[in-house]
Amino acid sequence: MAGKPASKAAVVETPEISELSRQLLQAQEAERGRISRELHDETGQALMVLRFQLEMLLSDTRSGEQKEKIQESLDLLDRTIEGLRRTIARLSPRVLEELGLIAGIRRQAQLLTRHTGIQASLELPADAGALEHDLEVALYRSVQEALQNVVKHAHARHCTVRLTVTSSRITLVIEDDGVGFVPRASQQEGFGLTGMRERAAALGGSVSVRSQPEKGTRVRITFPTSRDLKRTRGAS
Ligand SMILES: Nc1ncnc2c1ncn2[C@@H]1O[C@H](COP(=O)(O)OP(=O)(O)OP(=O)(O)O)[C@@H](O)[C@H]1O
Ligand SMILES: [Mg+2]
Repeated sequence: MAGKPASKAAVVETPEISELSRQLLQAQEAERGRISRELHDETGQALMVLRFQLEMLLSDTRSGEQKEKIQESLDLLDRTIEGLRRTIARLSPRVLEELGLIAGIRRQAQLLTRHTGIQASLELPADAGALEHDLEVALYRSVQEALQNVVKHAHARHCTVRLTVTSSRITLVIEDDGVGFVPRASQQEGFGLTGMRERAAALGGSVSVRSQPEKGTRVRITFPTSRDLKRTRGAS
């Protein structure tokens, strides 16, 4: 993948480049879906068979010492299955397809609080209206990456996810009260923020990151609505 900074690319982007990025992102989404299905149908199934066999072994075994060892293996297996389930859910676009964007974001926030204790305030419209599928995926994946960054880097106690949809713009903000950082030039960012910028640029949007040590972080992503988007892309 070209490691080109999307913010720069957005300035000189032609409709053809934008369309190409869009197709690459669609291919990436399809690949994620394929991997999550494979993990579910193959790895997940194999682990469940293993679990079943260990349980049989546990009920057949008389030795206390062996029972203890098998139980330990079962506990480890349960933690592995739980981790695998989370990975499958993260990779799969199914949540978005089944629940829709707003409920999908709510679900991400619930899981964040359940697994990390970080509190999340949500300011979301009851219904985001009919958004293009690519745009929904971009918003959903951006929330996912920003919240993962909160978990990995911020040491935050609280975060907010705000989505505003007006007739001309869609704005997504993810803020936290964590340790913050000194934002680097976009060329030096990691894959997460770069991917977010590339995704936004492919849909005519942009990302800004505001952060300061000890003052938390705010990621703001804006997109034009479909009508402006078509104009940006030069579509009829
Ligand atoms: N919410 C945040 N709080 C504190 N630091 C952050 C936050 N978000 C990003 N950062 C900083 O910005 C860097 C770049 O983030 P980015 O998501 O691009 O990469 P990463 O999270 O390190 O790796 P990857 O996303 O590829 O797994 C991080 O390494 C971290 O130093
Ligand atoms: Mg990241």
